[in-house]
Amino acid sequence: MSETHDEIRDGVLERFTRTAVAPEQEKTFPVGPDSAKALGYDAGEIDSLPRAVTESFCGVGNPIGLGEPQPGDTVLDLGSGAGLDSILAARKVGPTGKVIGVDMTEAMIDKARRNAGSVGLDNVEFVHSGADAIPMEDASVDVVISNGVLNLCPDKPKVLREAFRVLRPGGRLQMADILLHDDVTPEEVAEKGTWSD
Ligand SMILES: C[S@@+](CC[C@H](N)C(=O)[O-])C[C@H]1O[C@@H](n2cnc3c(N)ncnc32)[C@H](O)[C@@H]1O
Repeated sequence: MSETHDEIRDGVLERFTRTAVAPEQEKTFPVGPDSAKALGYDAGEIDSLPRAVTESFCGVGNPIGLGEPQPGDTVLDLGSGAGLDSILAARKVGPTGKVIGVDMTEAMIDKARRNAGSVGLDNVEFVHSGADAIPMEDASVDVVISNGVLNLCPDKPKVLREAFRVLRPGGRLQMADILLHDDVTPEEVAEKGTWSD
């Protein structure tokens, strides 16, 4: 039986609250600094960050690696988790730019705020919100990054419409995510477990 949107949301909230507060308990998908390094993040930069910044990283790729944000850019990190990508982007956009991380899991937002403070950044802020109703103006963002989030959103067209609404003309959407290939059977899909696994 398929899950309702509310059930999916509750499962995602429970899963990522746990990933924020007890990342060491996560056994079903890669989490933390070693995963970031395996996905192509600069190992020296990952090792230089406080453990709290990297331990709850649960991305599936390296969206900033698809195109570097430039000094002065406004970057939106959709589903920002504990803030690793937002922090790396904030370093790139510098004092004349800004980064806004949006996430629906309160424990992730709390941790991301602490993490940005711990590395002394004041050009990044974290906003508690769903990705399907981004609290930002139309055409106000140069780059939207997102890492491992769209696959968790039941209404993907709505999230993508929101991302394109806030992007300026000529802005970029840089996403890393999980795709389901046509040749995967329903049995294999079922084996993958629930939406939040
Ligand atoms: C796999 S984690 C990735 C976190 C972060 N991007 C990273 O790379 O570490 C997915 C994140 O997306 C958030 N998320 C999932 N669905 C969301 C939605 N509909 N709106 C906002 N955030 C969402 C979760 O709370 C979680 O923090």
